[in-house]
Amino acid sequence: MARTGFGILGCGTAAVPVCEAISQVPETAICCVYDVNPEMARDLGERCRVPTVPNLDALLNFSDVDAVYIAVPHHLLAPLALRVLETGKHALVEKPMALDVTQADALITLAQQKGLTLGVLYEMRFAPIYAQAREIAQAGALGKIFGVRVQTLINKPQSYWDVGYSGRSFNPWRRERDKAGGGVTLMNTSHLLDALWFVTGLEITRLSAEYGTLVSKVEVEDTLAATFRFDNDAIGNLFAGAHIAGASGDERIEIYGTGGTLRLPDPYSQKPMQAWLCEPYGEIPARVWHTLPQFTTNVFERAVQEFARAVQQARPAPINGMDARRVLQTVLTMYRAADEHRVIEIDTRK
Ligand SMILES: NC(=O)c1ccc[n+]([C@@H]2O[C@H](COP(=O)([O-])OP(=O)(O)OC[C@H]3O[C@@H](n4cnc5c(N)ncnc54)[C@H](O)[C@@H]3O)[C@@H](O)[C@H]2O)c1
Repeated sequence: MARTGFGILGCGTAAVPVCEAISQVPETAICCVYDVNPEMARDLGERCRVPTVPNLDALLNFSDVDAVYIAVPHHLLAPLALRVLETGKHALVEKPMALDVTQADALITLAQQKGLTLGVLYEMRFAPIYAQAREIAQAGALGKIFGVRVQTLINKPQSYWDVGYSGRSFNPWRRERDKAGGGVTLMNTSHLLDALWFVTGLEITRLSAEYGTLVSKVEVEDTLAATFRFDNDAIGNLFAGAHIAGASGDERIEIYGTGGTLRLPDPYSQKPMQAWLCEPYGEIPARVWHTLPQFTTNVFERAVQEFARAVQQARPAPINGMDARRVLQTVLTMYRAADEHRVIEIDTRK
């Protein structure tokens, strides 16, 4: 079996589960790792039993590197991804991939011109609940979707802003506006916005928002509320908070259609999805709350496997630059709407 060889660029928090996945998936292998902080590179290299390299050029020239997984602070994702693509390597970039739409477009165009695969790690899309929900929605069992509620309720410790969740290294970029580009919405809700589009196919075309740094002493938002209009005329809202006392497993989506309702649990919680449908669909009876069967999967393994298959078959990644662009544009428009106190139309690019 052909294997896609990965160089790892950035050895912090995000890289650990992704490297475990690359090591497990038969179609993928780690060739070498690099981080500007040699301690982080050494630690990850030892965990994965692969060599570290001293700089980016050495990583790009290392034998058998077909693709580079890029997991660095947000402001460095796009410039480094551009460098990787320019060198002729495929790129699997951490979310949000870029800090503005112009950067995102440059990556999408370069990958297309060079015939390279550009993937983005919105791996939560592979949570089985989203596949179940997508099947129900696309079969028409929800009727016309007219409403959506999204919530990102998290109770982050204050230490998160300096060391992330893992605490592997002091690296306070998450709290700085110019480096992170945004707070809880860009960092966390972005996964749910990608999943919502995957399930419903609906695009947000108009929105208004309010946000603030209301609890923590950081430059990015820790709280945001927004109202949406979608391209099929549905309406929806979002509440996102990084410091919600007592929150646990509360990153959820609800979808309301003329034919039924879906309650999607927190994708990190392994809880099952619930459906209430006007007409029976498959195993789901009509007019009672039904709990769907629960499946588990390693979303990181699915994400690297599907990316590697796309590389090997020379086709676009299943979660690609356009997906990242859509989410980024939505989040940045929320920030602008809040800053300018106005309702903003989004020019969606299909
Ligand atoms: N997909 C997910 O579920 C998920 C989870 C966590 C983080 N992330 C994303 O992963 C990315 C990294 O986040 P993190 O939490 O791992 O951050 P982190 O601070 O823990 O790790 C980033 C690493 O990048 C290194 N670095 C900085 N500049 C570099 C450069 N020029 N070259 C090489 N290495 C460099 C740092 O030394 C650090 O070790 C972000 O985009 C974040 O949003 C994604």
